[in-house]
Amino acid sequence: MTKTKIGLGLASLGRPEYINIRPHQNIDKSAEAFRSKTKSVLDEAYKNGVRYFDTAPSYGRGEEFLLDWHRSRGYKDVVLGTKWGYTYKANWELGYNGPHEVKEHSLSKLREQWKYSKQLLSALKIYQIHSATFDSGVLENKEVQRELMSLKKDYGLIIGLTSSGKAQTEILEAAMRIEVDGEELFDSFQVTFNLLEQSTLSVLKKAKDKGKLLIIKEGMANGRVFPNKHFEHYQDRYQELIAMSKKFQVGIDALALRFCMDLVEPDYVLSGAGNIEQLRENLKAHTFELKGDDLHQLQSMAVDVSDYWEERSQLEWN
Ligand SMILES: NC(=O)c1ccc[n+]([C@@H]2O[C@H](COP(=O)([O-])OP(=O)(O)OC[C@H]3O[C@@H](n4cnc5c(N)ncnc54)[C@H](OP(=O)(O)O)[C@@H]3O)[C@@H](O)[C@H]2O)c1
Repeated sequence: MTKTKIGLGLASLGRPEYINIRPHQNIDKSAEAFRSKTKSVLDEAYKNGVRYFDTAPSYGRGEEFLLDWHRSRGYKDVVLGTKWGYTYKANWELGYNGPHEVKEHSLSKLREQWKYSKQLLSALKIYQIHSATFDSGVLENKEVQRELMSLKKDYGLIIGLTSSGKAQTEILEAAMRIEVDGEELFDSFQVTFNLLEQSTLSVLKKAKDKGKLLIIKEGMANGRVFPNKHFEHYQDRYQELIAMSKKFQVGIDALALRFCMDLVEPDYVLSGAGNIEQLRENLKAHTFELKGDDLHQLQSMAVDVSDYWEERSQLEWN
């Protein structure tokens, strides 16, 4: 059985609006309500054995909520991960009319965001470039790479990057070649992988063979794996998923996460649960295993990588 653990990501807990296929109506979207909900989801996760927590400056108050919870609980066995490179712009404004997060992979942004994130030390172990792309220039930015190597040396951090988009494979290939003073910079990759987007399977195997730490994100395709009338072209897949979820007596969320665990065997698969109920359902992925024909059937659900990311770019924030 794979040793993959479920980690908890704070993307939907730290801010009132995020990608939601089914908009959340009738929930209290005040910052105080989110603070208190996040605390209870973190407590529930810890109680159920979750030890890895993933956040970012652009997840609204995600870093602050995680920091407060961590300070108040004082658990010594948690592993925290955060990122740098995206700034949260929506300022908790509901219906914000603009990009909620803006990317900037400069040395000054790294220094600015590190000033806050370093408060998560010493539980902070994984520090990642948030959504590295060829366009952002960060894979060629020597001064940023030197600074990251200094943080790695000074604080014993695992330096990683997260990837999105159809060029994930090429980004990981390029990142694995980056060295500072003859030492590989990146030891961790957080990658989008799920039933619909499986294009990185071989590069992930390669990274695993090189001993890199692997984290899978968006394992539920932002909610697109759940039967939903918005996505006409997935209706056949939905029928198969419903049948398989009956067979294993778990929800499609647990099936989707388990698929990543058994196919990729990463260190962590992230739950993006937005509340305790979703978290409990997601954690059922720990209770069974997928192999043989079931795994093959799920592997056959992948879609064309360009189509996947084109559709991802159209998903609404609400
Ligand atoms: N570039 C990056 O570095 C990056 C990008 C994205 C994510 N991440 C990380 O990965 C984590 C997970 O990603 P994600 O949340 O974006 O995507 P995801 O895990 O693919 O999708 C999570 C969504 O699935 C739905 N869901 C989960 N459990 C459910 C259940 N039991 N029943 C029904 N719906 C359920 C919820 O949607 P509803 O909210 O609609 O209910 C939830 O928001 C994030 O928290 C973050 O830490 C990193």
